[in-house]
Amino acid sequence: MVVLAIESSCDETAVAIAKHTSDGGVELLANVVHSQVDLHKVYGGVVPEVSARSHLEVINQVISKCLQDSELSWDDIGAIAVTYGPGLSGSLLIGVLTARTLAITKAIPLYGLHHIYGHVYANFITSADADYRIPSSPPSLPVLALIVSGKHSQLMYFDKHFNGKIIGRAIDDAVGEAFDKAAKILGLPYPGGPAIAKAAASGNPAKYQLPIAKTANKYDFSFSGLKTALLRLAQREAGGNHTMPSFEVSQHLSDRQVADLAACFQSTAIKTLVEKTVKACHQHKPNSLIIGGGVAANQELRRQLSESAPIEPLFTDPRLCTDNAAMIAALACYQIEAGVKPSDPYKLEIATNTDQLLAT
Ligand code: KG4
Ligand code: ZN
Repeated sequence: MVVLAIESSCDETAVAIAKHTSDGGVELLANVVHSQVDLHKVYGGVVPEVSARSHLEVINQVISKCLQDSELSWDDIGAIAVTYGPGLSGSLLIGVLTARTLAITKAIPLYGLHHIYGHVYANFITSADADYRIPSSPPSLPVLALIVSGKHSQLMYFDKHFNGKIIGRAIDDAVGEAFDKAAKILGLPYPGGPAIAKAAASGNPAKYQLPIAKTANKYDFSFSGLKTALLRLAQREAGGNHTMPSFEVSQHLSDRQVADLAACFQSTAIKTLVEKTVKACHQHKPNSLIIGGGVAANQELRRQLSESAPIEPLFTDPRLCTDNAAMIAALACYQIEAGVKPSDPYKLEIATNTDQLLAT
């Protein structure tokens, strides 16, 4: 069964085509991501209305390009999958209404899928173009998944498919959000994660001490204190005190100070993620440890986790960690294989906040 998937929950218009393989993995046949980063850069973050309008403008072209890349036609597509949430309402609507329309007019089954589960199932893609660096076999259950994106930081334990028990979650800022805010303080461009990682490459992570927050549930994450601690430190380094407006701080910092502050922030944020993941790994003893979401593209996270996890973590290609539709196609392939019923194409609604569906 060949699946065409659409993902439009935030600022990427993405379409992918994939199919289940006989050895239990997923083969990626085409993967197109139209990024809106340049549109939002000037505002320093995603503007929901701008995002929805851009999805509307490009979605048909992105679908055509993906079909063209796969050298398939609509006759070959056995199912359509789409992210129904969580995400920005206008952005989700464009993807969901497009998918519903295609499913109805072409009489193809429709699968409405959860974005965070998509990030998990990105790790089940085992075959793609040679330039993708991916594991050749899928994770085996039980799986411990660290999902770290712009809106979520959570540790999920899967003892069966599609049923992740959340054992830890962000109690304030998500880690990607903290990276984005830290980048703003340091005068680095949006999106902040890759910009911090780049600046940190020439910095000294041991130059300053930043705090790791304690949480009531040992597997929960808190990053808002780290962000404030970075602001106070940067204000001092810039020669000011806590009254210096955050937008002025970076004007008084040298490139060296920015690099050291970025390195220190990155190393502390990643250490927080790794310490909790490793603890959970010791307690829950999964067969596979995986990571997903935009922050999973971070090389320092991969380095620290490989160094301290009790089992060898599986890492997929960074392009499958940041938002994409290949992950939604992979999740659909697994659901179809497991006999999960399709959604009603006349009724599938968006859900901007689907956290409650993930709680167990
Ligand atoms: O999963 P994603 O693409 O979108 C959401 O679902 O939120 O994640 C985006 C987040 C942003 O906060 C971005 O700054 C962060 O992932 N990110 C990174 C890296 N690449 C993207 N954070 C740290 N290091 C990276 N290399
Ligand atoms: Zn995401």
